[in-house]
Amino acid sequence: MPIGVLCAMTEEIALLRGEMEITERETVGGREFLTGRLYGRETVLARSGIGKAAAASTVTTLLDRFGAELVIFSGTAGGADPALHTGDLVVSDRSVQHDMDAIGEALFQVPGHEGSWFGADPRLTALAADAAQRFFERDMAQELSPGQLVRFGITRPQVAVGTVASGDQFISSREKIRWLGERIENLKCVEMEGAAAAQICVEFGVPHVILRVISDGANEDSPVDFDAFVTDAARYFTRGVVRELIRSL
Ligand code: ADE
Repeated sequence: MPIGVLCAMTEEIALLRGEMEITERETVGGREFLTGRLYGRETVLARSGIGKAAAASTVTTLLDRFGAELVIFSGTAGGADPALHTGDLVVSDRSVQHDMDAIGEALFQVPGHEGSWFGADPRLTALAADAAQRFFERDMAQELSPGQLVRFGITRPQVAVGTVASGDQFISSREKIRWLGERIENLKCVEMEGAAAAQICVEFGVPHVILRVISDGANEDSPVDFDAFVTDAARYFTRGVVRELIRSL
């Protein structure tokens, strides 16, 4: 069975796509699924597009039609923990849909599910944290130029394991990120897909992990910071960490 690798954006998936030995291309629900080998493993690679519904649809296809045995969702995120900076890498141990607020349920709880969060696979979380560390220590300085690292103030990036919060909102407000941080345990970052992908994986009983490089601080500077990072740097982080994770599976 193949592994499933997803990114939301063209910029995030660009280098991974280039590294894949593609044997088949199939379009389902308006999304292209590439089948082939990536770093020696049978893989299905797809770009979900942005948002929770896009992610859920793509993961459903990946599991139901392509039979993926595990799912890696990789991309960028806004930092929610003040200790995190641009270029740091968050690995999920759980994820939350921060815009879910259904009547009769706990805050963030998806009706029909127990609790307010979805658990990542502990083995994938541990392997991904090691993979990110290897990328930072061994490869990053070769794969990004000194100019790129200086531009984004990246010197010794850290790996953080914790909660990823997803919602159909680009968050660019200190007040909002504080509000979320006060309500979500061990919140590390915010993005727009991971916890929806996680929900589908949990429903299908398939292990998953979310990998997110911090592109901005989820604050008032975020629109500009995010745009610069996603255009110039995100692809190197997604390729580096996904590569090291796949090699260690
Ligand atoms: N992805 C990257 N940065 C983000 C932010 N600030 N809010 C939501 N998704 C993001």
